[in-house]
Amino acid sequence: MRVLLGVTGGVAAYKAAIVLRRLKEDGHTVRVVPTAASLQFVGRATWEALSGLPATTDTFDNVPAVEHVRLGQQADLVLVAPATADFLAQLAHGEARDLLGNALLATRAPVVVAPAMHTEMWEKPSTQANVATLRERGVTVIDPAVGRLTGPDSGPGRLPEPEEIVAAAYAVVGSGPMPDGTSSAPWGDLAGVRIVISAGGTREPIDAVRYLGNRSSGHQGFALAEAARERGAHVTVVAANVALPLSEGVARVDVETSAELARAVRQSAAEADVVVMAAAVADFRPREASATKIKKDGSGALTLELVETEDILRSLVLEAVPGRTVVGFAAETGDDATSAVEHARAKARRKGADLLVFNPVGEGRGFGDVPNEVTMLDAAGAEVGRAAGPKLAVAHAVLDAVARLRG
Ligand code: CTP
Repeated sequence: MRVLLGVTGGVAAYKAAIVLRRLKEDGHTVRVVPTAASLQFVGRATWEALSGLPATTDTFDNVPAVEHVRLGQQADLVLVAPATADFLAQLAHGEARDLLGNALLATRAPVVVAPAMHTEMWEKPSTQANVATLRERGVTVIDPAVGRLTGPDSGPGRLPEPEEIVAAAYAVVGSGPMPDGTSSAPWGDLAGVRIVISAGGTREPIDAVRYLGNRSSGHQGFALAEAARERGAHVTVVAANVALPLSEGVARVDVETSAELARAVRQSAAEADVVVMAAAVADFRPREASATKIKKDGSGALTLELVETEDILRSLVLEAVPGRTVVGFAAETGDDATSAVEHARAKARRKGADLLVFNPVGEGRGFGDVPNEVTMLDAAGAEVGRAAGPKLAVAHAVLDAVARLRG
């Protein structure tokens, strides 16, 4: 189910991270909406990294998506933990000061709140009146636990343990973990979009034991797959020699050579709305692969004859299927005459993909589980976006550009 997890400003906000983990482990899609004050306690990066979704705070953070209405409408459950006394007052009075307040006004889903505050605040008649109002209106208010509070005081006001909060939430919606461990109802802006992503690096056999390969690890392509899944897409990954796992719910086709990759991509791309060629595909392969291991012949040299492979990206562009968005990658190095980005611009024009994601490589950059930096170019070579950071963050930026292209 889709859970909207509101986090308001109290020290116990850190416990909400464990609530989020538990819900995710059970297969639910969780969108965190922190209040501005709560970000003083736990930063946005924590919520985005753990949920895999944006964690916006303000009503005006993502206006084109009309999130202040959509988030509430799409939620199957709204859970607020911790809930401050001030938040309870706002909720009891139907105030919509921020994104969380708006989402709560716009939702018809069950609402569960887990208050946490000092005992004096909890026992204040105004707070108790607000709790009574909320309960009357059908909101489930979990009683705070009794125990040690922030500082030396103790009493009622402690946030219950994450397991108890999750159990209380499940009791309200009459469900627990998703039966198949996968999320059934995505939130995302790519909901229902069919996306094919090639990832990794191809291997072209030379003989029974050797191949021509490259240093692509598949991390960026797999990050794209995870990001797309989180945003609601149906994802198929064509993985060329990638030793990384994928989340359940992502279809995976493993291939080795560029010819196998071409076949698999073509097959999946027939039904796709978006094709992303993140794989490093060999441009050449040995004309003949020896069935047996090639032996040294004493001449001190070996000549391999190489032939060009199919340029899959170019073929996809030439096919020009209406409504299908084609994205290429370009890992480039600069040279004496031309900078890396100039090479990328020329490639963008040559390949004609709707989007070409250029990343500079070499000197420890680009390959493996390391941060990436990319510049996105359109078919004319003009810059349409930039991103830098962990590969998952870069993946989301690429998908933002894809979503913009698709309008
Ligand atoms: N690509 C492809 N098929 C190939 C080679 C590359 O589909 N046979 C795709 C890659 O997946 C990537 C893009 O083309 O999305 C650019 O790959 P790259 O190796 O940088 O470009 P090349 O095709 O090698 O272009 P050039 O030789 O001009 O550098």
